[in-house]
Amino acid sequence: MAKREILEYPGIGEEEVREALDFCCRQICHVLPEFTHKFQNAYSVGGFYEPVENWDWTCGFWTGEIWLAYERCGETALKEAALVQVQDFMERIRNKRGVDHHDMGFLYTPSCVAAYKLAGSREGREAALMAADQLVSRFQPVGEFIQAWGAMGAPENYRLIIDCLPNLPLLYWASRETGNPLYRDTAEKHIRTTVANVVREDDSTWHTFYFDKETGAPDHGATCQGYRDGSAWARGQAWGIYGMALACRYTGRREYVALFERVAGYFLNHLPGDLVPYWDLEFTEGEEQPRDSSAASIAACGMLEMCRHLAPGEGAFWRETASRILKSLYDNYAVRDFETSNGLVLHSTYSCRSPYNTCSPAGVDECNLWGDYFYMEALTRLSRDWEPYW
Ligand code: GLY
Repeated sequence: MAKREILEYPGIGEEEVREALDFCCRQICHVLPEFTHKFQNAYSVGGFYEPVENWDWTCGFWTGEIWLAYERCGETALKEAALVQVQDFMERIRNKRGVDHHDMGFLYTPSCVAAYKLAGSREGREAALMAADQLVSRFQPVGEFIQAWGAMGAPENYRLIIDCLPNLPLLYWASRETGNPLYRDTAEKHIRTTVANVVREDDSTWHTFYFDKETGAPDHGATCQGYRDGSAWARGQAWGIYGMALACRYTGRREYVALFERVAGYFLNHLPGDLVPYWDLEFTEGEEQPRDSSAASIAACGMLEMCRHLAPGEGAFWRETASRILKSLYDNYAVRDFETSNGLVLHSTYSCRSPYNTCSPAGVDECNLWGDYFYMEALTRLSRDWEPYW
């Protein structure tokens, strides 16, 4: 949609933000007994999350939701449940259980860094620092990037993925906490390599990008979860939007503002009328394809983060756009009662079948854990001057 058309869509009102956040808190308190010693699965089935052990890349978002609810309503039970989960995250990183990948930021920032920031948890701090070490251990000096998945150095996985950008605040936090610049330097190198390679000429993005293992030279882009290699996977583009806003915050480099605007502009130009994308930006209004509401929430968080680093006049458009996206999510996608779902936002897509998508289909047109978390984070950002966990 063109900028003008986006501004014709109404923004969410203060009262609606309050109502939306209050429902999120009620839902989280309602399901808390079932999901204190267990975590919500990455995606719901028929609108309902199953309880699972702490093994997937997504579990930190559940603890993050609990912290956001605690910040809003101050219920001691929420803090206590989140701290129980912090113990589990400590056990996970100590035993290196399910941590052979780059998603240490998604796991440890909304859970353990938040625990340290909000409740002074020493255990949270220690676990998050161990997770930062784990993330740094995936850095490939030949090519200068953090390898996302698979055995280190395996040719089929000698690549970065755009989703890694929002994992990097963990490294900046670790440098601040310890005074060791290694974490920050690793993040900066990864950001530089990512932005130099994933943004295409038309401002769409590659999901994953390969490098030559011997020379480190950029090789080629490919998708893993998108419709096809040359298309723009909606959530990948959204991770790019949020990731570049965070890169602006941590590096202060103005050139990343321009990149943010390009990537966010492409996202907006490929939205259907209700401002919530199909799972791949290849698809347009009226196509029989599932939406990915989580991509809308992630992009809104990125826009609200970006506003913090722009002059008020420059940031206004992004704040207004985020507010309009949230209005649509609240009106058309949010869960409103306990009977429909035990999550927060419907119509998200984890991985959709396509002739080219190499991931197994899962969580199609369902709630997804990160979609719920970022919806709540975006509402929180709209409601007040929130101090991010990231
Ligand atoms: N980072 C994995 C995903 O967005 O599905």
